[in-house]
Amino acid sequence: MRRPAIRPASRPARVVVLVSGTGSLLAALLDAATDPAYGARVVAVGADRHGIAALDRARQADVPTYVRKVRDFPERAAWDRALTEATASYEPDLVVSAGFMKIVGQVFLDRFADRYINSHPALLPSFPGAHPVRDALAYGVQVSGCTLHVVDAGVDTGPVIAQRAVEVGADDDEASLHERIKAVERAMLVTHVGRMARAGWSVEGRRVRIP
Ligand code: GAR
Repeated sequence: MRRPAIRPASRPARVVVLVSGTGSLLAALLDAATDPAYGARVVAVGADRHGIAALDRARQADVPTYVRKVRDFPERAAWDRALTEATASYEPDLVVSAGFMKIVGQVFLDRFADRYINSHPALLPSFPGAHPVRDALAYGVQVSGCTLHVVDAGVDTGPVIAQRAVEVGADDDEASLHERIKAVERAMLVTHVGRMARAGWSVEGRRVRIP
């Protein structure tokens, strides 16, 4: 199905980044966005928990932060609405899930249709879900990698924007493989968020086109 193309704004694209942990992907975006030619700036960082390094990194960069914890709401749908409202208040052109370990609901997906993207540390459709690096190692694959995709209602099933391969070493454990994947993932994310910000994009069926 062809949906309207998302055109670049005449100002730097407003990007909200969602995080749950260390925030090395966020840090790469913040660093890239210090260059005015990059075409995007991080206008807020949202999280599902307090006390994570990613929030410290955002504060260091003077970027506003917000936290919406699932447990603080009577039901998941109320959390989804609250996360949607908080995110929307920063008027993002693009919302990036960069190590955000929550599945958002339909209200969020509808509000940010085609504008919500996720970086995943495996070559989708292999190894979706919460433990992709562990699952890839357990399967015994010799090549894994990372995928940047538009988020849809499934778990890691949305249209692919970019993928990069990373070889699995015989001595790799989950931590060592994940670190090597993340090094490649940061570059992939920075490259494609910048391209989307500068050129716009469209989602046509399973294809994401960046002019
Ligand atoms: C990244 O590898 C990201 O793809 C992954 O968490 C890591 C975050 O690293 N996300 C998922 O697994 C989501 N399913 P960081 O906190 O250092 O940016």
